[in-house]
Amino acid sequence: MAEQSVRVLVLHGPNLNLTGFREPDVYGKKPLDEIDADIQRAAEALKIDVRILQSNSEGILIDTIQEHRKWADAIVINPGALAHYSIALRDALVGVRLPVVEVHLSNVAAREEFRQHSVIAPITVGQIVGLGAFGYELALQAVRKHCDETV
Ligand code: DQA
Repeated sequence: MAEQSVRVLVLHGPNLNLTGFREPDVYGKKPLDEIDADIQRAAEALKIDVRILQSNSEGILIDTIQEHRKWADAIVINPGALAHYSIALRDALVGVRLPVVEVHLSNVAAREEFRQHSVIAPITVGQIVGLGAFGYELALQAVRKHCDETV
């Protein structure tokens, strides 16, 4: 049987627009537009319809999550620093009742103590950290499998 198409909202949080320029030894040299093109390609191969948004604003991220409540089957999010403290972002993700995969480019577990805790992690189906931009492709694979198994 042909695979059902899956719709995934991919969100990049604050400062991720500077990826490629900001601390390239930590976050990689690839700019966000190239990462997004890779996400788009990976999504097509997996029969995933993606919408991608980066915002430096917590409110815009929350509005976008709420607006996609009915459109999306799952959410892939790199919350940036919001991962470490935003209860509002966590509440929005819980509120829309969609499966969430959290991505971090860097290995947050090996960095400063304040990065080692995510308020988002407990409400996700899983986290992918430390694998750079490839983490988004892995997240899409994980979402595809998760959605296929839960239909
Ligand atoms: C990050 C890790 C966060 O701690 C940091 O604030 C970021 C990027 C990552 O992708 O590794 O902005 O989410």
